[in-house]
Amino acid sequence: MEAFGRSQGQPKTAKIVLIVIFVTLVFLTIIPAFYPLLGYPLYLLKASSPKPSPATAYDSREAELRSSIRISEGEDCDIFSGEWVPNHNAPYYTNTTCWAIHEHQNCMKYGRPDTEFMKWKWKPDGCELPVMNPAQFLEVVRGKSLAFVGDSVGRNQMQSLICLLSRVEYPIDVSQTPDERFKQWKYVTYNFTVAYFWTPHLVKSEEREDNSGPTQTGLFNLYLDEFDERWTTQIEEFNYLIISGGHWFYRPSVFYENHRIVGCHYCLIENVTDFTKFYGYRKAFRPLLKLLTTWKTTKA
Ligand SMILES: *[C@@H]1O[C@H](CO)[C@@H](O)[C@H](O)[C@H]1NC(C)=O
Ligand SMILES: *[C@@H]1O[C@H](CO)[C@@H](O)[C@H](O)[C@H]1NC(C)=O
Ligand SMILES: *[C@@H]1O[C@H](CO)[C@@H](O)[C@H](O)[C@H]1NC(C)=O
Repeated sequence: MEAFGRSQGQPKTAKIVLIVIFVTLVFLTIIPAFYPLLGYPLYLLKASSPKPSPATAYDSREAELRSSIRISEGEDCDIFSGEWVPNHNAPYYTNTTCWAIHEHQNCMKYGRPDTEFMKWKWKPDGCELPVMNPAQFLEVVRGKSLAFVGDSVGRNQMQSLICLLSRVEYPIDVSQTPDERFKQWKYVTYNFTVAYFWTPHLVKSEEREDNSGPTQTGLFNLYLDEFDERWTTQIEEFNYLIISGGHWFYRPSVFYENHRIVGCHYCLIENVTDFTKFYGYRKAFRPLLKLLTTWKTTKA
């Protein structure tokens, strides 16, 4: 947090690019324990802020982030290497203190008897992550905007953030559409906006009407070289982006490139070659990375 705060002192020209890709499968089962993960983006911000220009290649930026993240003065730490340890101070919010937990996530209300699953924190090998301080966080992001882009992992993280900040303030709903997949919240006192853009495949995609797919989980058309404009046209003004994606590529899908079917993942359609899920996952990052290398934020 403190580090994040210092980044305020950096030149206004600093363009802050933040990418966090989570393989969502791993996390879907531990949604209520999500708050420790929120630490990642916040600390990454610090690492990226001293660089005034964006990296030209994601790989080099990634390597840079991973190799040296300073958690506090004089301390270098790879926050990606560590383990989950018990945290007796958790949870920092419950279903009774935070309304942002949705009905379908309210395990306690529907009878889950244990609470231990909420009491964990991420412990990097080389350092301690400080506990989230909501007042300090809001001070640091005053006048800024943050968007979660991706699947339900992003939505869960947004909800967790709202719950963590709820000790200080609740945001008001300033969504530009009634569509629950595109929420925007504003912290009035801090002029801080949090948004969420639903885009499970990150690229343009749609569920095919003709087929529920071999696994009955839907069959999707993925346009692997096309932007999902529902979010790509909206992010220009945001200061920070947090991107998630992964498990939706496990569902049966038909891959399009250049407006033509090139193959699929377990679609069982005659004469369409099976490329496996990894093809779609890999390809979908290309337009994303292209977009991010040219992404400008007017407010950063
Ligand atoms: C919260 O969970 C408790 C069980 O731990 C349940 O009795 C209560 O109804 C829940 N409250 C809300 C507001 O969901
Ligand atoms: C709120 O922040 C935005 C930038 O996100 C800025 O353009 C606007 O002037 C701010 N409003 C106030 C009242 O400070
Ligand atoms: C699949 O390919 C075979 C061989 O080219 C062709 O005879 C058949 O009509 C094709 N089936 C469909 C549904 O296009």
